Amino acid sequence: MRKTDIERPTGILPATRIESVNEYYFSQKLQQISVMRSEGVDVINLGIGSPDLPPAPEVIAALQASALIPEHHGYQSYRGTDALRKAYSDWYKHNFEVDLNPSNEIIPLMGSKEGIMHISMAFLNQGDKVLIPDPGYPTYAAAARLTGAEPVFYDLNEDTGWIPDLFQIEKNGLNGVKMMWVNYPQMPSGAVCNKDFFERLIAFGKLHNILICNDNPYAFILNDHPMSLLSVNGSKEIAIELNSLSKSHNMAGWRMGLAATNAVFANHILKVKSNMDSGMFKPLQDAAVIALSLGSDWYKSVNKIYEQRRNIVWEIFDVLNCSFSKNQAGLFVWAKIPDDYIDAEALSEMILMESGVFFTPGHVFGDNGKMYLRSSLCAPESRIKEALQRLKNINFKS
Ligand SMILES: Cc1ncc(COP(=O)(O)O)c(C=O)c1O
Repeated sequence: MRKTDIERPTGILPATRIESVNEYYFSQKLQQISVMRSEGVDVINLGIGSPDLPPAPEVIAALQASALIPEHHGYQSYRGTDALRKAYSDWYKHNFEVDLNPSNEIIPLMGSKEGIMHISMAFLNQGDKVLIPDPGYPTYAAAARLTGAEPVFYDLNEDTGWIPDLFQIEKNGLNGVKMMWVNYPQMPSGAVCNKDFFERLIAFGKLHNILICNDNPYAFILNDHPMSLLSVNGSKEIAIELNSLSKSHNMAGWRMGLAATNAVFANHILKVKSNMDSGMFKPLQDAAVIALSLGSDWYKSVNKIYEQRRNIVWEIFDVLNCSFSKNQAGLFVWAKIPDDYIDAEALSEMILMESGVFFTPGHVFGDNGKMYLRSSLCAPESRIKEALQRLKNINFKS
């Protein structure tokens, strides 16, 4: 057999659950981009929200110092170090005015993404329904499906400021609904919500006995008023919040996040998680403690750079005749393409082929994203300027 031949398995079929999901969109797209690059195309990837800026120097120094200690290379506690949970608790108190007991209301995670799966495994049974935003982060639906639960998509759109219409959701029927995902600041729309909406959401969850999960990784990016769902009185009884250092501290590859909720729910999540991994590398945890102690200057310095990049992305979307709100938070700009294009998938492909610039087409996030493109701010200003120049030179025909 030659090395390049693919061995075909005989008779062993995968579990039926994997038929309900596809390979993650970006996993395929990055492959296409890497093939293009290997063929000599200088692709400017404005698709993905992976911060290109480094973490603070003192965070990297803490990682290095901790890695030099021999005992730090063994298995770690399933609940994270006491210092890390305390640091998360202080971070929530300082930034969101939320009290979390570090001993039992915080589960450190390897990024917030794994928390979506752990929460789904911990709370969903076969056939349970889960309310999921359209457009929204695709992992909510994939995790629900992998547990045998059924995603029920609720509409978000420009007219309602990308905020769910809870009356409409109620009217559509809540039979069998066990959980609801929200994500503010919202990805991909960049919408922010106010405290009043969070209060109504918690009341809705309590009234209908629906677990409310807020995924909050963009709280500190281009957002004047970082907010936690857990700042609503009594929210911990019915809600879980995920957060992460991926975007706020340029630590996406480090995989540092947390789930925050009441002690009982936290314990349910821990039952799943402690059977899946064996703790997090101690130097990462030690360095995360330093990251969490950074003051407001850190967030200001990062946001200043994103603001400059965003100005150029706004120019790009003007060149593409797209419309967009300038009040978006988070690491992206979400823009509506002109009506005379078939959809954003076709436009994104055309732009990639003609100019080597990649924007994420909005259908990836749900049907309501079909006419939108999402540009990431995670590329150096010079590259975004280069993308602008290339796009100015294309003659767009729908
Ligand atoms: C809405 C949303 N939630 C969660 C994540 C995952 O982030 P983390 O790196 O914390 O796993 C992302 C990453 O892009 C995201 O956009």
